[in-house]
Amino acid sequence: MAQAKRKAARKAGARAKSAAQQDAIALLKADHRQVEEWFEQFESTRSEGRKQSLAQKVCQALKVHTQIEEEIFYPAFLEATEDKDTHHEAEVEHDGAKKLIAEIESAGPQDDYYDARMKVLSEMIKHHVKEEEQRDGMFAEARKSGMDLKALGEQLAARKAELMSDSDSAGRPQRRGATGWAHPAA
Ligand SMILES: [Fe+2]
Ligand SMILES: [Fe+2]
Repeated sequence: MAQAKRKAARKAGARAKSAAQQDAIALLKADHRQVEEWFEQFESTRSEGRKQSLAQKVCQALKVHTQIEEEIFYPAFLEATEDKDTHHEAEVEHDGAKKLIAEIESAGPQDDYYDARMKVLSEMIKHHVKEEEQRDGMFAEARKSGMDLKALGEQLAARKAELMSDSDSAGRPQRRGATGWAHPAA
C-alpha cells in the first residue's frame, strides 16, 4: 500500500518534471492532442457510462486549459505582439466553448441533446485549435515575437497542476467515520 503510494508519487513527480520542461507551446499542444483523443473515443463508444466519463474528462481538461491560457499565455501574447484581433477572437471562442461545457456538465448522457452538444463542442474546439496552431496562427506569432516560452511553460505547468489538484479534491468528497461529524460537547 505504502509502496504503491510511493510509486504513484514518483510517477506524478516524473510527469510534473517533464511538463515543467516543456515550453508553453509544447504544453498547450499536448493538451490539444489529449482532448482530441477523448473526443474521438467519445464518438466511437455506445456505452453511456463511458460517454459520461469521457465527456467529464474533456470538460475538465478544457476548463483547465482555457483558464491557464487566459491567465498566463494570452496576456503574455497580447503584451508581446499587441495583436488585439487574434487575442480577442480567441477569448470570445473560449466563452462560446464554456457555455457548452456548462450545459454538458449539468446534463447526463440520457439527455436528448448530449451527443449534439459534444459534437458541436468538438467542432468549436477543432476550429479554435486550428487558429492557435496553423502556420500564421497565434502560436507561430508568439514564437516570432520572442516571448519567453520556456518561462511561460513553467508557469503554465505549475498553474495546471494546481487547478487539477483543486478539481480532484472537489470531485472526491472526503470519507468520514461511521459516526459522521464529531459534535462539540454541549
Ligand atoms: Fe489552446
Ligand atoms: Fe485557446
